[in-house]
Amino acid sequence: MKIISVVGARPNFMKIAPFIRAIESYNATSDNFIDHCLVHTGQHYDDRMSQAFFEQLDIPEADINLGVGSGSHAEQVGYTMIEFEKVLRSRQPDWVVIVGDVNAILACSVAAKKENILCCHIEAGLRSGDMTMPEEINRLVADRISDLLLTPDRISSENLLNEGIPGHKIRFTGNIMIDTLEHSRNKAQRMRIEDIISANSVNGFRTRFNGFSESGYVLMTLHRPSNVDRKEVLEPIVRFIMDEVCSEMPVIWTIHPRTRKMMHSFGLLDEVMSNNNLIMLEPLGYLEMLKLNMYARAIMTDSGGLQEESTVLGTPCLTFRWNTERPVTLQEHGGTSKLVGNSIDLIRKEFLTALKKSRNPVIPELWDGHTAERCLQAIIDYKTINAGNSLLKVKEYGRS
Ligand code: UD1
Repeated sequence: MKIISVVGARPNFMKIAPFIRAIESYNATSDNFIDHCLVHTGQHYDDRMSQAFFEQLDIPEADINLGVGSGSHAEQVGYTMIEFEKVLRSRQPDWVVIVGDVNAILACSVAAKKENILCCHIEAGLRSGDMTMPEEINRLVADRISDLLLTPDRISSENLLNEGIPGHKIRFTGNIMIDTLEHSRNKAQRMRIEDIISANSVNGFRTRFNGFSESGYVLMTLHRPSNVDRKEVLEPIVRFIMDEVCSEMPVIWTIHPRTRKMMHSFGLLDEVMSNNNLIMLEPLGYLEMLKLNMYARAIMTDSGGLQEESTVLGTPCLTFRWNTERPVTLQEHGGTSKLVGNSIDLIRKEFLTALKKSRNPVIPELWDGHTAERCLQAIIDYKTINAGNSLLKVKEYGRS
């Protein structure tokens, strides 16, 4: 069997690493060799957004890099489709495997299905219901046309069924990103927070910062267009952080390239960088981020993956969004995350509540570190199951 799996942007790398390991273990013990090819669309290209993850997570170098780089959504998706179609035609895989919700999944699922190649989506069925979110469009298209939909939780399987996707295409396999978390916990644990800060600092805090007090620190990330692309939204958040959070405890903010550019263009960057209690870091490697998350008093983020990791680690998480495609991470479903949108009143209220909370790790069903094996098995089993389904269909057809 020939599989091409695709990565494009930072959150994909921790999802593909365990899948590649699962293929390697399978090949070591089975006579049916799986020929695997890794394609990187090149959407994320900075070392810190891409190469660093390959190294830390032991992902073999991509066999092919499509080099699409930055651009508008149409440019990224269009260039990816054009280049990926060439790969499909020359490699003729049995399966294309896509992970997550970035632009690569839209481009590569469409290209694969137009070449009549089976497509499997790992992390299928997540729905925010928010059509202004580029990722929601990617999820809807990819899930509608993929042949095998592997879901991280039961709510996602229900979402797919409610959209009319036949049940035989859906398998609840668990959260593959948690495989990487479990695989990396001990390595991350051995890192020192001071070393992470001094190696990644943007604003040279060491000259002004005297170390952490008992109160701990808040960890922050922000990159969604809905939070960072407009000054009238970003500025009040930044002011709240500087005026009310930094006065309580240090804030460690790992800054995404998009956010850094926007802060610079809004004239906010210099002020933030000169705040004595705000530690601005470059985009971090996976292990560094995991370590900081393990010890943060609270996390403020609009990332999807961090809502999940915080739930498993037990870190109180303020999610700077009005909706989430990951409801299992919400406090009302037993997780640690609270949606606060970009309302300063709500952020303040939940921040004060979070400070009173103690760390409470939660492991949702099948977030057990073995999702990748189940995903690979679902692909291997697909033909048998699907053959059964076609037979059933033919029988039902004959009867009517
Ligand atoms: C993308 C994903 C998002 C994911 C995020 C994680 C989509 C639709 N969005 O958003 O789901 O949560 O990645 O980071 O696929 N840039 C660099 N260096 C890089 C990559 C990007 O400087 O290596 C700059 C680009 O020039 C661009 C900005 O960052 O101006 C945003 O990059 P882009 O890839 O368009 O989307 P993200 O916001 O990163």
